Amino acid sequence: MTKQHLEKMNNCSNESDDINYNGWDPYLWPPFTQIGSTPPPKRAVKGSGALIYIDNSPPLIDGISSWWVTLHGHSNEYIANAISKQAKELEQIIFADFTHPQAEKLAQRLSSHTGLKRTFFSDNGSTAVEVALKIAYQWWQNINEPRQQIIAFEGAYHGDTFGAMALGERNLFNAPFEEMMFAVTRVPWPSTWWGDDSVEKREQKALLQLEQYLETPTAAVILEPIIQGAGGMALVRNKFLQEVEKLVKQTGALLISDEVLTGFGRCGALFASQRAGLQPDLMSLSKGLTGGFLPMGITMAHEKIFKAFVGVEPDKTFWHGHSFTANPLGCAAANASLDLLEQNPSQYKTFENRHRPHLEKLSKHKKVSHSRVVGTIAAFDLAGSDVSGYLNPSGRIVKEIAMSHGVFIRPLGEVIYLLPPLCISDEQLEQCYSTINLALEQA
Ligand SMILES: Cc1ncc(COP(=O)(O)O)c(C=O)c1O
Repeated sequence: MTKQHLEKMNNCSNESDDINYNGWDPYLWPPFTQIGSTPPPKRAVKGSGALIYIDNSPPLIDGISSWWVTLHGHSNEYIANAISKQAKELEQIIFADFTHPQAEKLAQRLSSHTGLKRTFFSDNGSTAVEVALKIAYQWWQNINEPRQQIIAFEGAYHGDTFGAMALGERNLFNAPFEEMMFAVTRVPWPSTWWGDDSVEKREQKALLQLEQYLETPTAAVILEPIIQGAGGMALVRNKFLQEVEKLVKQTGALLISDEVLTGFGRCGALFASQRAGLQPDLMSLSKGLTGGFLPMGITMAHEKIFKAFVGVEPDKTFWHGHSFTANPLGCAAANASLDLLEQNPSQYKTFENRHRPHLEKLSKHKKVSHSRVVGTIAAFDLAGSDVSGYLNPSGRIVKEIAMSHGVFIRPLGEVIYLLPPLCISDEQLEQCYSTINLALEQA
């Protein structure tokens, strides 16, 4: 089919209709983007370490690990070689009738790292959450004590498939689907920052509310341990999370830890649950799982949960799966990524100390407020922003200026943050901060 024919069929010629495509590719439909009001994207042709190489311009430092996935750096040779080797041995296999060495090895390693014995594979962060939710909900039926209530936190983001979407904060992104989403009980998220002196009061309020909601039999409580990502890099104290866990466990409700963002060293420990002192019943993983090379999701489950799905009755079965479940290439990438993390844990454990002096300096800027840092993630709010939330334009202006000076960031409304790959050099990190400082001056 010719290009002209295809365009005629779809009536999609940029020239012939009156929609302004703004210079965007006529065949692509980008995620999370209104192309009518957004400049066209850059064209990436190569990635190496912390750098993204683009057509006709100098490279950019990837300040946010390409949506928080690129853990060790772009095109990491060790992981690339592991995938290449695996591709020549076994590229894909149906995981219902077969298992394979890479999946077995990965499951054993994750089990020993998380303390959760069972590994269920899926495709991405949303499915890893979706699976956790379905397992939790069905578990109560399998043990003949069905419970309906699900509790999540205000500001949460757990993904874009229906179940995951329903768990997240209701907002502009999911408004068209409001009537199709199931009810979720929501508890405040008492986020904190440097110099915050009222956090305890907010924590107490949230805990009281949680306690009241838990009087209704609850199937599961889901949270993003330590930091809500898409909700604005909103940090809570470990102590608060421990209190949450105590309340949840008293009622028997299952605790789901969504570590899609926070897993694999992002919060300064291999898993944020560990740093926070939590022992969840279910854990969702993705993003950094494969070092950011391949899409893959994993849901880890406690053995007591798995046991309730074992038996001869068909209705006890967890009837869920995906074509690419436990894809061997993804597993090989994940095993290689874990090798790197295990070989050099200080890289993620000490990252916070690399951010801290830069953020301390930046925090003196009059446009900076609510500074916060954990592990590899540093964030602050643009002071004086009257509209808060994703649509606040102030972050976008800072982004454009930073991009024109060689640093790629993607603020969440008025929240500016850095979440770089572990391989970023001191000079590159310094450049990220000095560029943000410059952008704040110019914005
Ligand atoms: C905490 C959390 N859970 C789930 C998801 C969804 O992951 P994915 O985009 O891979 O579906 C995200 C994505 O940002 C996330 O941050």
